[in-house]
Amino acid sequence: MQRVDVAFMLELVPQELVGLRTVVIDVLRATSTIVAALSAGAPYVVPVETAAAARELAEQFADVGGCYLGGERHRVRLSGFDFGNSPLEYLELPAAKPIVFTTTNGTRALKRALGSEEILIASLGNGAAVAEALLAADGEVLLVCSGTRGQIAAEDVLGAGLIVEEMQNRAAIEMTDAARIALASWQQAKDALTDFLLQTSSGQGLSRLGFQQDVIHAAAVNHSDVVPCFSAGRIQCDR
Ligand code: MLT
Repeated sequence: MQRVDVAFMLELVPQELVGLRTVVIDVLRATSTIVAALSAGAPYVVPVETAAAARELAEQFADVGGCYLGGERHRVRLSGFDFGNSPLEYLELPAAKPIVFTTTNGTRALKRALGSEEILIASLGNGAAVAEALLAADGEVLLVCSGTRGQIAAEDVLGAGLIVEEMQNRAAIEMTDAARIALASWQQAKDALTDFLLQTSSGQGLSRLGFQQDVIHAAAVNHSDVVPCFSAGRIQCDR
């Protein structure tokens, strides 16, 4: 029986990840944006930690067809970047170019998951597809909630709960207590999800800056069947 655990924030991710299959979740908004970009036909996303590294890397793409620069600091698009961190901006990409991407917490979370057997990327939009991919292979699962600057973010816990529920609907799984808490939170919130997300700390912060539609988009469940995988520095869909 597959064992499923949840780390409610990066600080709770164990040091030793060997043998674990991890899923990085940052519902508001990095992983919702990555799912949107790959669903819209971006070939791959290259996550980098700093804006300077993103700009430098983008220059290297100049000779090979170019790329888009995407990302935020303080939730706002970085100067000179093509896109911010709004999933809505990525729904219709002008061209199928790779995206060099940097965000405050999401790209940190991806780095934290390095060393695990496999790193998948999930939002509420592709939870069922990720659950199916997890069940298709053996190995203990750790759902990694990105959180926000060292705080638990409720929307990420709900994302983890959705995946636990989708796995449980398809197979018998062994849940840790953290997985049970995520599942219970999800089951309590799922019928009024948009309102719940709008009330979260990130939801309120985004709404104040005019990004309320991003929160509404992020609350749409299981609309995408992409299963992004982070490997060799790139996030892409292999299945
Ligand atoms: C992040 O990765 O820190 C978040 O997705 C921030 C944001 O909402 O833009």
